Amino acid sequence: MRLSLVEAVKQLKSGEVIGVPTETVYGLAASLHLPHSIKKIFELKKRPLINPLIVHVAALREVFFYTQDHPPLFEELAKAFWPGPFTCILQAKLKLVHPLIRANLTTVALRIPACKVTQKLLSLTGPLVMPSANLSGRPSSTLAEHVEEDFGRFFPVLEGGACVKGLESTILLYQDNKWVMGRLGALAAEEFESILGYRPQLIQKKDQESPLCPGQLFRHYAPQARLILGEEKLFNQTSVILGFKERCYPSSHRLISLGSLDQPEQVAKQLYQKLRQLDQEKIESVWVDMDFPSDRLWLTIAERLKRAGEKA
Ligand code: TXA
Ligand code: MG
Repeated sequence: MRLSLVEAVKQLKSGEVIGVPTETVYGLAASLHLPHSIKKIFELKKRPLINPLIVHVAALREVFFYTQDHPPLFEELAKAFWPGPFTCILQAKLKLVHPLIRANLTTVALRIPACKVTQKLLSLTGPLVMPSANLSGRPSSTLAEHVEEDFGRFFPVLEGGACVKGLESTILLYQDNKWVMGRLGALAAEEFESILGYRPQLIQKKDQESPLCPGQLFRHYAPQARLILGEEKLFNQTSVILGFKERCYPSSHRLISLGSLDQPEQVAKQLYQKLRQLDQEKIESVWVDMDFPSDRLWLTIAERLKRAGEKA
């Protein structure tokens, strides 16, 4: 069920959880000030309570209001990448950020989204807590229809059209005197080099005794369909290919195109939509062409496909 901006503000203020567009993916939003509504997000998504949520705000002064002890270069990062698909993990002012939001950690994740509708909404509602608007483990939603697919056709969603980026925000945190990535995302690691003077590395799952980015431990982005990730000997186990439009594949297989190898931004934008299409068409397995560059946005695309291909 699609909401106007006015209806969306009203619902959020009265404690409802609704779908909200951003430039990355749709979020499942609740007011930062209403713990009861925040709890509903976890129930709706079937999300473990140990997986914290991102706080979305309209302006940098709100980031400072909820956080403390900012690491070196934080302001430079904030000015370069906000509003935008950048999420920063900072020390929380514990009394101001409910433990449910931060899964009892002492840190909180913050983002200032660039999408105009979201900005307007945030200016009318105040801070919103939102994870991606998908059932836990499923591909994220990049269209209002996807939110309805996961939560029912009467679920309230503020319409925002197709998300421009199509991949979640890139998460940075400060650890051992340097910035590292908690999650690859819509901003490539290379983009941070001019500000930091180095390329932030992705923290590895196995390095995380007490996980620094808990969400990375769970199954993610997965359709029902089995993904065969480029293994040649398994090519004939399916008759569908997830591949690129300029490539010639055997005519025995039907191509579902991810777009062009020259346009990683377009591939990113459509990725979750194509993964969801597999299930809409009840395709049981698909061979994925993994032969693409291994830098910039392609790294995030490869990581999402690998996670989507993991067994439950
Ligand atoms: O693009 C996005 O980031 C979207 C849109 C809606 O903003 N949101 C999103 O939220 O992807 P979610 O909940 O699907 O992913 C948030 C990730 C999770 O992996 C979570 O573990 C991590 O952020 N996270 C949140 N708070 C954290 C914290 N305090 N410390 C470490 N990781 C945190
Ligand atoms: Mg998510």
